[in-house]
Amino acid sequence: MFVFLSVLASLAFLFAQFGASNATYDRASIILVPGAFHQPIIYDKVTRLLNDAGYRSIHAIALPSVGTVNNSRDPDINAVRSVLESELANGKDVLLVGHSYGATIIGEAVKGLQSDSTQSSTLLKRFSLFWDGDLADAPPQLIFYNDLSTQQANFWVNKLLFSDFAALSAHATYIPYTGDFKCVYVMTALDNALPPIWQQTWIDQPGALFQVEYVNASHSSMLSKPKEVAEIIRKAAGEHNVKG
Ligand SMILES: *[C@@H]1O[C@H](CO)[C@@H](O)[C@H](O)[C@H]1NC(C)=O
Ligand SMILES: *[C@@H]1O[C@H](CO)[C@@H](O)[C@H](O)[C@H]1NC(C)=O
Repeated sequence: MFVFLSVLASLAFLFAQFGASNATYDRASIILVPGAFHQPIIYDKVTRLLNDAGYRSIHAIALPSVGTVNNSRDPDINAVRSVLESELANGKDVLLVGHSYGATIIGEAVKGLQSDSTQSSTLLKRFSLFWDGDLADAPPQLIFYNDLSTQQANFWVNKLLFSDFAALSAHATYIPYTGDFKCVYVMTALDNALPPIWQQTWIDQPGALFQVEYVNASHSSMLSKPKEVAEIIRKAAGEHNVKG
């Protein structure tokens, strides 16, 4: 058994648990976790493409911290963990995709599932997510959706909800990308929320083991470049000969 992780669009992780040797024939279950402020519909395009590629068990998670205040990140972690556990109990291989804040959630959700942590990390034991709350100076059209049309950007701005601040500022209690899991980090070249130079510092952390993929997209690559994102997910899920 081994688990796999990746970072999509700035900070996103994919974890896959491959439990069976027939992983090539059985498509993995995919768990898609949005970032702060975002609802699961942000993954609709990617879900359709994965469905077309034969994936039948795709779960886009509605994070409890989006639109509700509970002064805790735990409900988010539990929401992901319960789907993950039920898929694993069904014998499925599972791949988790986390976007931005969602990456910190899947990191916590796989805690304790690592098969072998021979590479104990001297890496940072805690990290918190930076968030610049000044949306007046940094409107979401420019921060999240700078490669969408004005009409599309406005559509998505209207879908944004508030996020629980306590959830956003919680520290990591487990770092999954030092060897316990195979991890992919997807860099987004046009990202105004987490500029590429900052993403690079994440990747370059001593002890961090990432496979790096690139998408020429804004922070919300699943909206503007869904095909590329779906292809990266399919490769991460163990498919060979995915074009892209
Ligand atoms: C708030 O979080 C706690 C801890 O996870 C949980 O037990 C409780 O059900 C949550 N409440 C709501 C309203 O989500
Ligand atoms: C990335 O996209 C931008 C905006 O569409 C474009 O100007 C730039 O040439 C692209 N870069 C690459 C490497 O394709």
